[in-house]
Amino acid sequence: MTTILLYDSGMGGLTIYDAVRHHFPNARYLYCLDNAFFPYSEKSTSLLIERAEKIVGTLAEQFSIDMVVVACNTASTVVLPALRAKFAFPVVGTVPAIKPAAKLSQTKVIGLLATKGTVERDYVTDLIDKYAPNCVVEKIGSTALVEIAEQKQQTGKVDWERLTHEIKPWQKITALDTVILGCTHFPLLKAELQQCLPQVKFFVDPAEGIANRVASLLSDVDDEKGENLAFCTQRPNDFLDKQGVLKEWGFRRLIQLEV
Ligand code: DGL
Repeated sequence: MTTILLYDSGMGGLTIYDAVRHHFPNARYLYCLDNAFFPYSEKSTSLLIERAEKIVGTLAEQFSIDMVVVACNTASTVVLPALRAKFAFPVVGTVPAIKPAAKLSQTKVIGLLATKGTVERDYVTDLIDKYAPNCVVEKIGSTALVEIAEQKQQTGKVDWERLTHEIKPWQKITALDTVILGCTHFPLLKAELQQCLPQVKFFVDPAEGIANRVASLLSDVDDEKGENLAFCTQRPNDFLDKQGVLKEWGFRRLIQLEV
């Protein structure tokens, strides 16, 4: 059985899982939402590293893991070296797709929509310097959008007023033709973002690129299919609702993990 572990602060990482499972429907998936520390947006780098090591370490004691996908930009911009130093299996990260966005943009005015933490990381500044030196890169760092996306995933409802407020600075930038969805929660709001930003031609979602990266590292996937399991790091009040949502994504059970 080939086991792939993905984790995020919440439901956003499911957008990455969705692309990976299309490549490897026969893998067994473990998905951990670190809801005890949701949202990650403004959490310190040391806390994010500690959470990564605990989540991956705890699950690696219980399951034979073949690969870890950090399905979160905020964590990936800081935790990858620590995880790679500690664990023998491959660790794939999710970072803002600056390079494809710079290539796609015709106006060379692109927007990075990510969490507050991600937009400020040196890692991201370096990516911009390296891959988008000829572009104007506008940035919005938002925790509210993460919460809006999580709520939509849970309830189907979108807080339009809050969403529009977050995006407002970009509504007047008519040359903005490409937006990088630099948080795995944001593809869950793509239709709403498109509606607020009609001038944008391309919304760049990293999921397919991550799935290709996984495919390049995982050539041989066992045909034996185990049950997909989801984990949370604290029992939420809406445990049964969350479990219901995760069932729809193909996870048999939601289990509380002590980390
Ligand atoms: N989905 C995550 C990301 O890609 C984290 C969102 C959050 O918890 O702030 O950045």
